Amino acid sequence: MAEPYDPVREGAETAFEHAMSYGDYLALDAILSAQQPLSAAHDEMLFIIQHQTSELWMKLMLHELSAARAAIASDRLAPAFKMLARVARIMEQLNSAWDVLRTMTPSDYTRFRAALGQSSGFQSWQYRLVEYAAGNRNPAMLKPHAHRTEIVALLEAELARPSLYDEALRAAHRGGLPVPGDVTERDVRQPWQFNTGVESAWRIVYADPEAHWALYDLAEKLVDFEDYFRRWRFNHVTTVERVIGLKRGTGGTGGVPYLRRMLEVELFPELWRLRTTL
Ligand code: HEM
Repeated sequence: MAEPYDPVREGAETAFEHAMSYGDYLALDAILSAQQPLSAAHDEMLFIIQHQTSELWMKLMLHELSAARAAIASDRLAPAFKMLARVARIMEQLNSAWDVLRTMTPSDYTRFRAALGQSSGFQSWQYRLVEYAAGNRNPAMLKPHAHRTEIVALLEAELARPSLYDEALRAAHRGGLPVPGDVTERDVRQPWQFNTGVESAWRIVYADPEAHWALYDLAEKLVDFEDYFRRWRFNHVTTVERVIGLKRGTGGTGGVPYLRRMLEVELFPELWRLRTTL
């Protein structure tokens, strides 16, 4: 009988007493011991892993978004496009992940929902960082983090920076578009307000893409981002309705009505509005 195949004969390394292994490098002991269901319900593991993997992807998204924003701020648009394309793929990943969670029925979820207490994705500070970085800056969303001063500090620091949209508009201004001065000089902590001057500036780009190709590309990358983000919100609210109907959320909001309201949030309203009049 032939001997079982042994990759060691080809040189596969197996001695790790004094060398860094795969698990060491990836801190797998920490990651794989972080799933601690609070009930005996079978589906709680799915629920935990779905949230944890979403948080990991959000971490990467923040890494890419802040680098893309810095690149835009220094007029290095080509690397920014590459990073924004990656952000869109990450969102695609998050969007597909709902298919896994949808296999959990309302009966499955009720078996462990009480164990969650008042915890909810509403308290995801990375999600708020993504929103703040993109430009959806509602300071009321700081409140659930009041008990964690270091997280409030992170969120406040993000509010103090120009958002991705602010930087895109400053780049457009430097590129010769008539972006109003009160926009490029605005107090970036304030939530974005729709601005007709900004809509007119973007319209110039869309009326003649060849003449403004880099800004056209930038605008479409922003629309891509918002498109994927909307799909994430829509998938979330649909999954939530499928699983809890119209029950209130564990985080205390009205649940589905709250999430439907969030569907109306617009990140880059001028880029959507100009399409009607093009
Ligand atoms: C069956 C699964 C889920 C249910 C029933 C659910 C339910 C809810 C509800 C009712 C809210 C509104 C706030 C509240 O009162 O709790 C909410 C918010 C939120 N959830 Fe989920 N959720 C689920 C899965 C997920 C997953 C997998 C994520 C991924 C991280 C997530 C992230 C969020 C975020 C970020 C918010 C805040 C949204 C905003 O403020 O715009 N949720 N969720």
